[in-house]
Amino acid sequence: MPPPSPDKFPTHAAIIMDGNGRWAKQRGLPRIEGHRRGVETVRQVTEAGRELGLRTLTLYAFSVENWKRPPDEVGALMGLLEFYLQKELNTFIKNRIRLRTIGRTHELPAGVQKHLNHTIAETARFTDYTLVLALNYGSRTEVADAARDYAAAVAAGRETAGESSWAAFNRYLYTSDLPDPDLIIRTSGETRISNFMLLQGAYAEFVFTPVLWPDFSKADLAAAIAEYTRRERRYGLTSEQVTTPAK
Ligand code: IPE
Ligand code: IPE
Ligand code: MG
Repeated sequence: MPPPSPDKFPTHAAIIMDGNGRWAKQRGLPRIEGHRRGVETVRQVTEAGRELGLRTLTLYAFSVENWKRPPDEVGALMGLLEFYLQKELNTFIKNRIRLRTIGRTHELPAGVQKHLNHTIAETARFTDYTLVLALNYGSRTEVADAARDYAAAVAAGRETAGESSWAAFNRYLYTSDLPDPDLIIRTSGETRISNFMLLQGAYAEFVFTPVLWPDFSKADLAAAIAEYTRRERRYGLTSEQVTTPAK
C-alpha cells in the first residue's frame, strides 16, 4: 500500500480510554490495579502519538459522570492522577510536551489542581505536541458552560444579540484554541461516545477497538491511524468533489 499523503494524516487524535476495570477483573485484581496499568499506557501512548506524527492527543481520563463511582475508586483515581502529574513533569519538559486540560478542573481536589496548574505553566512554551487531558469533562456540561459564557458576553456587548454562528459559539467551548479531533478512538469494545466531544467530533472518524486500555499499544494506535488514512472524509460533498477538487 502506498504511504498516505500528509493531508490524509490526522492532526488531532482523541481516545476514550476504556476497559481498565475489565482488564483487572479478568486477572482477579482490584479495579484500581487496572487504573494503575492504565496510567502506564497513558505514558506509552503519549510518546507513541508524538513518534507517529500527531500534533495533538486528547485522552478522556475522567468524566463528569465518573464521580458517581464508589468513593474509594474515585479517591484512588484522583490519587493516581496527582502521582502521575508529579512524576511526569520532567518527562513533559524533556520531551517538549505541552499539557492542556478540558473540563471543570476547578472542581478537582486541590492537590490535583496544584500539580495541573504547575505542569501547564511549565510546559506552556512548547508548540510541537500537545497532550490534552479531559478531566471532569462532559460535553453537555461544556455546552452549558459555553452558553452561560456566551450569554454573559452578549450582556457585556462583546457578542451581538440575535446573531447565530457556529464560529462565534465555538469560541466559548473548552476547546476554543484546539483543532477538532480528526480521529476518535474508543477501546474496550464499547461503541458509544459517553458524553465526549459531541460537537467537536461532528466530522471525526471513529475507530472502535476491542483492546482493553491497559493493553493498548503503539501498534494499536498506528493501526487506528492507518484505518483513518483509508477513509474518505466528505464533509457533505460527493466523493467526486472530494477526489477531484473544483478548478
Ligand atoms: C476507564 O476504564 C477509566 C475510567 C473511566 C476512569 P473503566 O474503569 O471504565 O473500565 P471498565 O469499563 O469498568 O472496564
Ligand atoms: C468513559 O468511560 C469515560 C472515560 C473514559 C473517562 P466510562 O466507562 O465512564 O463510560 P460508560 O459508563 O461505559 O459509558
Ligand atoms: Mg468503562
